[in-house]
Amino acid sequence: MAKPKVYVTRVMAEQGLELLRDWAEMRVWPEDRPVPREILLQEATDCDGLLAMLTDRIDGELLDACPKLKVVSDHAVGYDNIDIAACTERGVLVGNTPGVLTETTADVAFALILGVARRMAEMVDYVKQDKWQTWGPLENLGTDVHHTTLGILGMGRIGYEVGKRARGFDMEILYHSRTRNAEAEEKLGAVFVSKEELLRRSDFVSVHVPLSAATRHYIGATELNLMKPTAFLINTARGPVVDQAALLAALQNGKIAGAGLDVIDPEPMRASDPLLTLPQVLILPHIGSATYATRGKMAEIAARNLIAALSSQPMVSCVNPEALGKGRNS
Ligand code: DGY
Repeated sequence: MAKPKVYVTRVMAEQGLELLRDWAEMRVWPEDRPVPREILLQEATDCDGLLAMLTDRIDGELLDACPKLKVVSDHAVGYDNIDIAACTERGVLVGNTPGVLTETTADVAFALILGVARRMAEMVDYVKQDKWQTWGPLENLGTDVHHTTLGILGMGRIGYEVGKRARGFDMEILYHSRTRNAEAEEKLGAVFVSKEELLRRSDFVSVHVPLSAATRHYIGATELNLMKPTAFLINTARGPVVDQAALLAALQNGKIAGAGLDVIDPEPMRASDPLLTLPQVLILPHIGSATYATRGKMAEIAARNLIAALSSQPMVSCVNPEALGKGRNS
C-alpha cells in the first residue's frame, strides 16, 4: 500500500522526524527560514498531512490548493496561525502540542520578571561596555521581585506554572481569566479579580492568553494607563496580544517601569525597532519553549498527532475534533 504523503515545513527535532521517516513519504523544507508561501502551496499540494510551524499561515486558500490534506499538525501549543473554522468546514483535523512546553515557557516568563526587575540585559551591556568602574551604594539599583504582587492574565497551564514559581518568591498572586481556576486558588492562593483591578494592583503583569480576534490588543493604552508607573509588563503569549505602539508610548512616557517580551508583533523584530532603544525593555526572540528536551517532545507529539489522524486513531491533542466525520475526514 502506498505510504501517506507528508510535508514538514521545517527541520525539527529528530524525535519527530524519525517517527515519520519510515511511516510516510516525507519531504522536509530544508532551509533555516520559514518555507515561502508559494513553495508551501506547491509542496503540500498532493499531501495527506502537513506538519506546520507557527510561522506558516494555514488558511482556506492553502486547504483548497491541497485537496487531499486531512490533517494539519502544528508544532506549537498556540494555533493562531491556522484558520480553524476553514479546517473544520473542510473536515481537516488540526493538532497541537500542549502540556510539554508549559514549564519551559513558565521558566522564561519568570526569567523575564527577574530580568526586568534587576535590569539584567542592561547590566550585561554595562559590563561589556566597560562602564563598570566602581561599586557604589546607589549604583545599578533595581526592583525586588520577592514579596511583590504578580498579576496573571490567563490562568491556563502556563499561567499556573508562573504562579507556582511566584510562590517560591513569596509573591501575592492575582489573576484574571475567562473562567475561575479552583486549583490556582486552592494551591497557589491566587485571588480572582477583575482585569482592571489586576492591572491597578500588580507589580508584574504576566500575559498568558491565547491570541484570537477577542484578545488582539488585549493590552492597549487603556490597560497600560491603569498599571502603576513602577510596574512591569511580561508577555510570553503572542505579540499581537499587546498593542506595541501603545506599549512604546507607555514606556517612553513613564506610564510603566519596563517590559519583558518573548513575543513581538511582527516577528522577527528588526534591530532598528524603537523598543530596543529603551534600556528598561528586555526582548527575547520567542524562545519560550526553546530547550532541547521540550522541542524534542513537541516534535514527537506533532508527528504522533499527524500519524494518528491519518491512521484514524485518536490524536494526542486535537483542536477541532468536530472535524471528524466531516468532509475529507468522513
Ligand atoms: C507555542 O508552542 O505556541 C510556542 O509559542 C512556541 O514556542
